[in-house]
Amino acid sequence: MKIGCPKEIKNNEFRVGLTPNTAHAYVQAGHSVFIESGAGLGSALPDCEYEAAGCTILKTAAEVWSAADMIVKVKEPLKQEYDLMKEGQLIFTYFHFAADRELLDVCLKKKIISEAYETVEENHTLPLLKPMSEVAGRMSALMGSYYLSKHYCGRGILPCGVTGVSPAQVLILGGGTVGANAAKTAAGLGANVTVCDLNLARLEFLSEILPSNVTCLYSDPLTVKTALKKADIVIGAVLIPGAKAPKLVTKEDLKTMQSGAVMVDVAIDQGGCFETSRPTTHSDPVYTVDNIIHYCVANMPGAYARTSTFALNNATLPYGLQLAAKGIKKACKENTALLTGLNTYDGFITYEPVAQAFGLEKLYMPPLKALDL
Ligand SMILES: NC(=O)c1ccc[n+]([C@@H]2O[C@H](COP(=O)([O-])OP(=O)(O)OC[C@H]3O[C@@H](n4cnc5c(N)ncnc54)[C@H](O)[C@@H]3O)[C@@H](O)[C@H]2O)c1
Repeated sequence: MKIGCPKEIKNNEFRVGLTPNTAHAYVQAGHSVFIESGAGLGSALPDCEYEAAGCTILKTAAEVWSAADMIVKVKEPLKQEYDLMKEGQLIFTYFHFAADRELLDVCLKKKIISEAYETVEENHTLPLLKPMSEVAGRMSALMGSYYLSKHYCGRGILPCGVTGVSPAQVLILGGGTVGANAAKTAAGLGANVTVCDLNLARLEFLSEILPSNVTCLYSDPLTVKTALKKADIVIGAVLIPGAKAPKLVTKEDLKTMQSGAVMVDVAIDQGGCFETSRPTTHSDPVYTVDNIIHYCVANMPGAYARTSTFALNNATLPYGLQLAAKGIKKACKENTALLTGLNTYDGFITYEPVAQAFGLEKLYMPPLKALDL
């Protein structure tokens, strides 16, 4: 198969869909790989590394889209890319259709085969979302620590403490992928960490794997309110799949907190789990409410593009290789994870929640039927 990887054009997006290593794996499997010149530069991956891996470098995005049967990228196609998409082309990337009716209409009109990272589901987990939660989780502890410094109006507490002086208190709401990774990083820094979650089995698991400076507590409202009063850093990491994040910290609660504490709302992409959260950007990441610093960047992994690129590629490669070797029909038939990832095919919506999001049930066709399997 001919595989194409264009440069990402979304504002401040520095990740890339293929690394030289993953591109090499496609080449080794007998495929041709076309990379847009400069596609990897944001992740410190120069063209020469792709050439050494056996790829063909093409000057423009248009040439890459035109040469490829399957496009592998990171973010959803943007308006400037709509005209480049070929009828019936297979695109393997994040789509987030429920938030983008125009893109959905274009994919339906062009009969695009959209294999969406965010809905590939295996054993009740979303393996192509998980690596980004890992990055954001680990980063949240670092960002919280950074903004705790006095010159950012934080409490001026060194998270790890020093001899004879207490470390910071870190409270993490939600102990899933983000929460566990935040806890691991904060604990590694030497902070005293508390993780709250509603899922007892998850709490049991976290208690077993995390070090002794992490306490795992059941997340009832009183426990959260009590822990908030002592916290120097609060990390919001809850998720109710498909729903808006529950507001676990109210504006009133801020008045009970220590002045200069830092709140990092990782769940901001689902609306945020603090009442006072609003989305921020890497260029202007924090604001203050009642002397509490809020960090609410909605695309945290973008800050560490190279790490995120490698983490994403490690997760997407096995699925991409199956798509390339077998084609969409056989790959979906033999792997239900890829079947759940199929969002549009032959002018139909093949992922029901996307159809429901726009009241387009008449355009929904179950993926097995659409693929005639
Ligand atoms: N801002 C970013 O750049 C970024 C990056 C990656 C992920 N995220 C977001 O981070 C959030 C968490 O992602 P995840 O992968 O860790 O999800 P996850 O499903 O692995 O974990 C969520 C956890 O929240 C717990 N939970 C639900 N309601 C709760 C409550 N009321 N109190 C305490 N715990 C509760 C669940 O039991 C679960 O363990 C999601 O909204 C995700 O989209 C944001």
